[in-house]
Amino acid sequence: MLKENVSKLLNEQINKEFYSAYLYLDIANYYINKGMNGFANWFNVQAQEEKDHAFLFIKYLQNNGFAVSLETIAKPEKTFKDFKDPLIESLKHEEFVTDSINKIYAEAVKVSDFRTQELLNWFVKEQGEEEKNINDLILSYDFYGKQGLFALDGNLMLRQYTAPSLILA
Ligand code: FEO
Repeated sequence: MLKENVSKLLNEQINKEFYSAYLYLDIANYYINKGMNGFANWFNVQAQEEKDHAFLFIKYLQNNGFAVSLETIAKPEKTFKDFKDPLIESLKHEEFVTDSINKIYAEAVKVSDFRTQELLNWFVKEQGEEEKNINDLILSYDFYGKQGLFALDGNLMLRQYTAPSLILA
């Protein structure tokens, strides 16, 4: 049986993950409209991964007898001033999600909820990878520069979706 506060935070995290998927779909739409199909592909894959994260939290709560409550997903209200802007926004967003995961972890530690800590270990690692991925993309963007933007766009077309390594039966 999970403690009430940990369950509540995990339930809130579902919404944050779905919002992340929404945000990245919105960014993919932005790039599609600018003819940058590789950037759009990269963010579409990212959106799929975020949806997976939401489903993992749902499954974990269901497996632990918690009645999941789905809340309204906010509309992404971002307007982007240039091609780099969505990348910076994505990094900020991932840092926000990392912070959110860390807060749940801290709560699980406080109440000696070792099961939830075990679940969150995967997410802590995942957040590290996601921050690195978007940071690498920002570095590539700067490295390729305006002249190389379409070459970078071509490379980003190669990103493929892979299912999460965490499987909850
Ligand atoms: Fe699932 Fe990128 O946070």
